[in-house]
Amino acid sequence: MKRVFILSAFIAVFCFATTATAAMKIKLGVVTKPGSAQNIVAEKFKELIEQRSKGDITVKIYHSKAIGNETEILQQIQMGTVQMGVITGGPFDTFDPVVRVINYPFLFSGHEQADKVLDGPLGQEILKSLESSGFKGLCFSENGFRNLTNNKKAVKTPEDISGLKIRVMSSALHKTIWQTLGANPTPMPWPIYTELEQGVIDGQENPLWVMEVYKFYEIQKYMTMTRHVYSPHIDVASLMWWNTLRPDTQKMVQTAMYDAAVFQRKDNRDRNAARLKMLREKGMAIEDAPDLNAFRAKVAPLRDMDLYKDARVHALLLKMLD
Ligand code: PAF
Repeated sequence: MKRVFILSAFIAVFCFATTATAAMKIKLGVVTKPGSAQNIVAEKFKELIEQRSKGDITVKIYHSKAIGNETEILQQIQMGTVQMGVITGGPFDTFDPVVRVINYPFLFSGHEQADKVLDGPLGQEILKSLESSGFKGLCFSENGFRNLTNNKKAVKTPEDISGLKIRVMSSALHKTIWQTLGANPTPMPWPIYTELEQGVIDGQENPLWVMEVYKFYEIQKYMTMTRHVYSPHIDVASLMWWNTLRPDTQKMVQTAMYDAAVFQRKDNRDRNAARLKMLREKGMAIEDAPDLNAFRAKVAPLRDMDLYKDARVHALLLKMLD
């Protein structure tokens, strides 16, 4: 099995090494469907890189689980059989726990602060650190601030969450956050509409665009503006592949992805007010002012938990919380 893995990775990289200076095709994976935050970044990147390389570089976007869930996309990126991805922080943390630092609850108070930190030296240090796990972190676009929805009851305080079966991403951090808040967290890969509809789970947590694009207003009555985690996407490339590219090609890819990320962050934020209005009109009961101090207090012990005990991760968390 290991030999097959090494051989397929070698073939994938060899094919790229021989074509990196001529016409080049990039396979880019996202788990969600067209119209999603991830697809908007991917499509913008495709447009920019194809234009700027005058067609020498082309991008094929594999969306809607065409090449698997986010964990499976990351495995293929590590092997070099998929070159790039736009991936949420959650599933990434099983590949590299450093990602838990940027998904720490209530880390950022707003978009401006998130951009400043993630585009700044600390964000770059985190991206660089992913190289030890076989990834070339390019930049951060955004999924957005995550909010809780459920179909059982209005939630204003952590006590209201007690016992709710909440779907979480396949991530030790996200599972622990919801355990600490008193829920019954259930890790599940995307998508989850059927499970919500059938009542296998009571709720979930995601940014506003998800409630719109995946029509969760049809099956979730209550939403609480918890904004508990700012969820960046990590716009990532296979390190094996990256190392086969000429420096000028690397620069072109890096710049096009960053420009796509800046475009998408603004686009996402510009649409949030209209999304909230629409979700209300569709009949969702939205709690705008939950007791966030109580939520913050509940998750405060996380920083001292095993999740952050790795020395590299702990040092970065302390810098981040500083
Ligand atoms: O909850 C998730 O799994 C992610 O936030 C999603 C919706 C796939 C977007 O990346």
